[in-house]
Amino acid sequence: MIRFENTSKIYGKDTAAIDRVSFEVKKGEFVSLVGKSGAGKTTLLRLLLREEDPTSGKVLFDDQDIAEIPSGFIPDFRRRIGTVFQDYKLLPMKTAYENVAYVMEVMGARGGDIDRDVSEVLKLVELMERAEHFPNQLSGGEKQRVAIARALIHRPDVIVADEPTGNLDPYHTQDIIKLLATINGLGTTVILATHDKDVINRLGKRVITLDDGKVIRDEERGKFIL
Ligand SMILES: Nc1ncnc2c1ncn2[C@@H]1O[C@H](COP(=O)(O)OP(=O)(O)O)[C@@H](O)[C@H]1O
Ligand SMILES: [Mg+2]
Repeated sequence: MIRFENTSKIYGKDTAAIDRVSFEVKKGEFVSLVGKSGAGKTTLLRLLLREEDPTSGKVLFDDQDIAEIPSGFIPDFRRRIGTVFQDYKLLPMKTAYENVAYVMEVMGARGGDIDRDVSEVLKLVELMERAEHFPNQLSGGEKQRVAIARALIHRPDVIVADEPTGNLDPYHTQDIIKLLATINGLGTTVILATHDKDVINRLGKRVITLDDGKVIRDEERGKFIL
């Protein structure tokens, strides 16, 4: 489904944020991308989202080189990938419900459809009873659940989560990881970038380790070893 083919991203003269990386992610996989800060995790995800173009090599999505997607189709392409970030990126003046509904509104969806779909994803993340709360009335874990609900609203093929537990305590961290595993169990591919060893070592899923922009390890049921 996703394939990096000898992909490099060089910043400036010689900073190889990603250095000749090749791997494949199959539909339905849960892959953790681990490595120290600066290892290249975020850059790799930005290449996948086509927020950056590779300096050399390719990124393929369903066998299509994403660099060749015409600009008019980029929004469609991006909707196939739900994104979740460390800082939640919620709109502070909107409730949990409205934060999720908003992404359908801007697409011109009808009220009835919005109601049905938003309720469905808020149920999935177990946040129905917090639907009318504003972000500042929610815990970090709850805010991240809203962000995950929003990421799911277009029924993406893939969820990409970049350090989603970076601001959470260990309890809420496990909670969010469990939720991502549940979503993966329902068929969505998950790519999780983290530098949190405990998260990975409990998960028992595939782990790709990056160091200095290079893949130094790629193991089924991997551990975080650096
Ligand atoms: N826009 C940019 N311009 C220049 N250098 C960058 C840029 N983005 C990332 N880098 C560099 O690329 C390397 C990898 O960064 P990043 O992908 O953010 O790593 P990680 O997410 O693993 O912490 C770092 O050395 C970082 O300084
Ligand atoms: Mg990062």
